[in-house]
Amino acid sequence: MGKVMTDKMLQAACAARDKAHAPYSKFKVGAAIRGESGRIFTGCNVENAAYPEGWCAETSAIAAMVLAGDTNIMEVLVVGVSPEPVTPCGGCRQRIREFATAFTPIHIASPEGVQQTVTLSELLPHSFGPDNLP
Ligand code: THU
Repeated sequence: MGKVMTDKMLQAACAARDKAHAPYSKFKVGAAIRGESGRIFTGCNVENAAYPEGWCAETSAIAAMVLAGDTNIMEVLVVGVSPEPVTPCGGCRQRIREFATAFTPIHIASPEGVQQTVTLSELLPHSFGPDNLP
């Protein structure tokens, strides 16, 4: 998809990022996912006083997508503010894998714009997915 779509996803992800509950790390992240219906689903990270119980922005966005009835991820955008690009963590790469293909674009962004776009297979090569199960 083109710049108009990524701009829309960036705007949505930034709005989600503003809602992040990140009092411990102070590291707010927003995610936007475009599902097969064309709708955009968003999520933020939600941390917890019991630190390991928190979860990522991508996980929240996937939950919103599934709840709304979409099961295919067409495109993902993650936004954060960091000297290094905010790429999805290992666990989220696998969660995205469940609903995406090797070629699904993952846009890594700052609030100013998309910094780089990679495919899921670049982030998670030789992945295990639903097709691996008998
Ligand atoms: N985090 C995300 O929400 N997504 C990412 O892609 C990277 C990390 C969150 C988890 C935690 O709340 C905070 O950022 C610091 O790791």
